[in-house]
Amino acid sequence: MRKKLYLNNEWKFKNEFSEEMIKPDYQDTALLNVRLPHTVAETAFNYFDDSVYQMVSCYRKTFRADHIWKEKRVALHFEGAAHEATIYFNGELLGKHSCGYTAFEFDISDKIKYDSPNTIVVRLDSRENLNVPPFGFVVDYMTYGGIYRDVYLEVSDKTYVKDAFVYTEVPEVFAADLSEDEVVPRAIGSFLHARIKLDGSLEGCTVTESLRRASGVVPDTVKDEYINESELNRVAAEKRMKLDYHTLPVVLWDIKNPAQYEFVVRVYRSDVLIDEKVVKFGFRNASFKSDGFFLNGRKLKLRGLNRHQSYPYVGYAMPASMQIEDARIIKEELCLNAVRTSHYPQSQDFIDACDRMGILVFTEMPGWQHIGDEEWKKQAFENEREMIKQYRNHPSIFIWGVRINESADDDEFYDKTNHISHELDPSRATGGVRAATKMNLLEDVYTLNDFSHNGKTPGCIKKSKATPDMNKAYMVTEYNGHMYPTKAFDCEDTRVEHAIRHIRVMDAIAGENDIAGGIGWCMFDYNTHKDFGSGDRICYHGVMDMFRNPKLAAMSYAMQGDDKTVLELSSSMDIGEHPECIRGDIWLFTNADSVKMYKNDVFIKEYYPKNTPFKKLHHGPILVDDFIGESLAENEKFSKGFAKRVTKALNTAARYGMNNLSLSDKITGFEMMAFHRMSVKDIVDIYQKYIGDWGGKATSFKFEAIRNGEVAATIIKETVKGVDLEITVSHTELMENRSYDVAAVRIRVVDQNGNVLPFFAEPAKLKAEGAIEIIGPRTVPMRGGMAGTYVKSKRHHGSTGKLTINLRAGGEKIKKEIDFKINERISGNV
Ligand code: GAL
Repeated sequence: MRKKLYLNNEWKFKNEFSEEMIKPDYQDTALLNVRLPHTVAETAFNYFDDSVYQMVSCYRKTFRADHIWKEKRVALHFEGAAHEATIYFNGELLGKHSCGYTAFEFDISDKIKYDSPNTIVVRLDSRENLNVPPFGFVVDYMTYGGIYRDVYLEVSDKTYVKDAFVYTEVPEVFAADLSEDEVVPRAIGSFLHARIKLDGSLEGCTVTESLRRASGVVPDTVKDEYINESELNRVAAEKRMKLDYHTLPVVLWDIKNPAQYEFVVRVYRSDVLIDEKVVKFGFRNASFKSDGFFLNGRKLKLRGLNRHQSYPYVGYAMPASMQIEDARIIKEELCLNAVRTSHYPQSQDFIDACDRMGILVFTEMPGWQHIGDEEWKKQAFENEREMIKQYRNHPSIFIWGVRINESADDDEFYDKTNHISHELDPSRATGGVRAATKMNLLEDVYTLNDFSHNGKTPGCIKKSKATPDMNKAYMVTEYNGHMYPTKAFDCEDTRVEHAIRHIRVMDAIAGENDIAGGIGWCMFDYNTHKDFGSGDRICYHGVMDMFRNPKLAAMSYAMQGDDKTVLELSSSMDIGEHPECIRGDIWLFTNADSVKMYKNDVFIKEYYPKNTPFKKLHHGPILVDDFIGESLAENEKFSKGFAKRVTKALNTAARYGMNNLSLSDKITGFEMMAFHRMSVKDIVDIYQKYIGDWGGKATSFKFEAIRNGEVAATIIKETVKGVDLEITVSHTELMENRSYDVAAVRIRVVDQNGNVLPFFAEPAKLKAEGAIEIIGPRTVPMRGGMAGTYVKSKRHHGSTGKLTINLRAGGEKIKKEIDFKINERISGNV
């Protein structure tokens, strides 16, 4: 039976390469011991140059073969090596692979030695002058080098299932009958198409296909109906089949209930099972029409963000758990229904997690703006073919990007990429991301990076202004980004504008019935080349920082979800943070039924969703427009009506300044002086008393989010009295399995009420003990009151580890300890 043996441990690495190293007897004492995923160079957080990872390096590994493989087929498989890998096995050249973002493998069955160790040598070229995508001009992201995904041996019978591609035809007419909130949608009348490729001698063999449920909620009553063992007994090297599920109701893959099935192909020789290939897939109908995107017949407005696959210090080299963690953040923290893997295919672990969690994925061929020469294009076709063949079973992928991101029209080139895509996968639409409107449309969907919103202009352009063909679907694949870079440590006004720009675009897209949705730029900040970003090699375009700590803009997305109560205030309520002490717009980011506001424990106002100016959004932020409530009317000797007018004038002054009062507010001021005999000082005093809150007792503001009649979340903003550390760890049980494991540790400095202190900048000191080690520096500064680190499991160092985080705040020492458990389950790996 087929077996996967991971080869991620005990590699030797050197940041240079010589022909000598290819020889099996090369003495590799000068090489470093490394494990995969590996980066050719650990980087600084910022202010580093791409030259640190541009090199030709050498990876070597030896392993002993098991005698039982003698009669088998053994393939040497690389999930990802950036960017050009030349592979030698026992001194012999196997071949070259020139894409850093797709997998590749070689059959080494006939080359394996059984009496002495076998040697794999990889010459890895991570220079950016390679004539392959995305290189050739500038690129707005670092491209890092390394064997940064898994390497394994696949051992199987020489007769085996080489490939199986499964896609489904789900009749929309049935699916459309589903009600909006039917979370377990089912459909009758579906077809399953399978393309199966077999290899090796098929003499005397039988092939069977079967179907079984893999995941997702399925009501008990219908649990087993779907199992369909069909002995087809067909013996052919390649077969295409269409299985009829007309009579069986299948549970559909949907964002709320991502039900998956497994299609199992088995090969028997004389009734003995010799190979089995299991393909996970989902029954679903994902289609674009002129008026939008439809999942299982229901119109779904796509709301997503773009994701790069990079991390601080290690670039691309992070194991499965970190890939899965990003998917979890997308689903649970950002409440998105879509993601674009800009600008290349990303880890199978990430896409698998999207399949399981119900996140729709836009995956595109590698590239950035530049189209190269014929050689380059040949490689681009190859990259596209590999992308589609390697990822086409994922139910989460709903569209292929078959253009080089933001490149110019090239009809001959793009005719072919569209053709390749439709031939290899007739089930999915093609898109191609552009930076300009009305370009030649060879794809099924016009996909545009709409950067038209500049803070003053509308959130998006109309479909009719974007696409040359109104009959085809249209979606927005990027917005914001460079239009408003925002650091977590920027001033409050900037952070608020950043968040509101994301809201404005989402609101505008929500209001356009014929825009399929929008995928914003981008999920988190990323390292980039000198030509982009803030000069420190970071594009601060994320709604999260590089450690995936949320900026305020993350709340613009989080609040669109309904599962968890979201309540965030855009302001620290410190007026001195604003020019002229003018508060400006203060927003409540919430999905609650209402929010009650109190000042010094006195009720001021209750805010409702209908108060938002963003009417088209599922949940729009609400402006806080009253800091006084009834208190002025109760405490000052004004008539009720006049107190109301004074309250209004003071609130306006607080939000927009004395120079921006309306005529009626100015008249109120005049009346205060003329009829109430108030001096300018009296008016200033009253302003200080109700708005400025200077002197005397410190002011506190409290906000309560009400959901289903209960207080579901509370925010308190008052003078900072204490500083604490809030640590969020992705997981504390590390698994040494395919390779090492990594946990993400997010660090935030908060006040006594859990509010992040954005201008706290002291460093935290980190210490690792036991079976863990820290990735990156041991001292990390707070940026915007937030920081992060990663801890990595160490093999054979015991089963526990401890991370200690020390911080000094105002003369006080704060110490947090996190205990980790390390489980080793590495049996079977080489
Ligand atoms: C787009 C590009 C992205 C990123 C973004 C920044 O033009 O496709 O990769 O550079 O701009 O806003």
